[in-house]
Amino acid sequence: MGNDRRPDDMVRITTPELADAFIEEQVKLVKEQVGSKKVLLALSGGVDSSVVAALLIKAIGDQLTCVHVNHGLLRKGEPEQVIEVFRNQMKANLIYVDATDRFLDKLAGVTDPETKRKIIGGEFIEVFAEEAKKLDGIEFLAQGTIWPDILESEAGIKAHHNAGGLPEDMNFELVEPVKILFKDEVRIVGERLGLPANMVYRQPFPGPGLGVRCPGAITRDRLEAVRESDAILREEFAKNGLEGKVWQYFTVVPDFKSTGVKDGKRTFDWPCIIRAINTTDVMEVTVEHLSDELIDHLVNRIISEVPGINRVLFDYTPKPPATVEYE
Ligand code: XMP
Repeated sequence: MGNDRRPDDMVRITTPELADAFIEEQVKLVKEQVGSKKVLLALSGGVDSSVVAALLIKAIGDQLTCVHVNHGLLRKGEPEQVIEVFRNQMKANLIYVDATDRFLDKLAGVTDPETKRKIIGGEFIEVFAEEAKKLDGIEFLAQGTIWPDILESEAGIKAHHNAGGLPEDMNFELVEPVKILFKDEVRIVGERLGLPANMVYRQPFPGPGLGVRCPGAITRDRLEAVRESDAILREEFAKNGLEGKVWQYFTVVPDFKSTGVKDGKRTFDWPCIIRAINTTDVMEVTVEHLSDELIDHLVNRIISEVPGINRVLFDYTPKPPATVEYE
């Protein structure tokens, strides 16, 4: 098994035994590549970077430094889980940067979706580069590139380097140990490396995070409403056996208010939109139809527990014509 291209005849990793063999092989290859030098990894807490982190911890231990940048747009509990799993349990060298204020200050008043994405992506590179510059003797940069990223970049669909855009004077050699794997294989490998199931089997989450689910100019209070309602939705999906069954589900809090009434008083608050979808290729998606009971329960919890929300709406639009995300 090489380190570069997926061999045409490579058996799909579907069993713990095949995953263990892959891990053993990659540990050997990474040790050969890196020797006694140091490696840096941007650890988002997503499936791919988490699996790379776990694999490298196994291969080279404290020669790896992970940097987790909290841009303030993560889901509830995510930064805490990264710290718990990697620093506390796996004893990784983890630098945690809470850059929430920096990101939200830069995003204040910015309404254009593409500009928002650019600010988030650009700021991320800047924070990461600043942390990298503080460290001595790093020669390698690890990345959670996977096989579909390579295929898409070859087809000209997307640039695959997750940390592409780092300043040119930072001349790192890349370490990409899951580069020849499909996503389902990465998940099995992650499980065998001891990562928690809810980290390895998590639903897709966009790089700009909750920023694209807080349409228009992001404000801290509306962002909190997105985060809290998302946490309730995830909790209820887990309790009702929908976690791992529905492909992606989330809430959106748009930037408009409507009148309502609570405890005999008029309210003027945001609506919360629930979107739950299924797909195989993300080009076309269908909507998951929820039970009346679950709908009632979700509405009840969100309007009573999330400050600033007085209505809950359900988005039953397939893709096309609607995209999955709102921005
Ligand atoms: P759309 O909205 O294009 O979403 O129908 C398709 C899938 O891609 C995810 N998505 C992103 N993922 N960075 C990402 O890493 C992004 O900027 C981004 N935008 C959308 C979306 O969550 C869905 O799974």
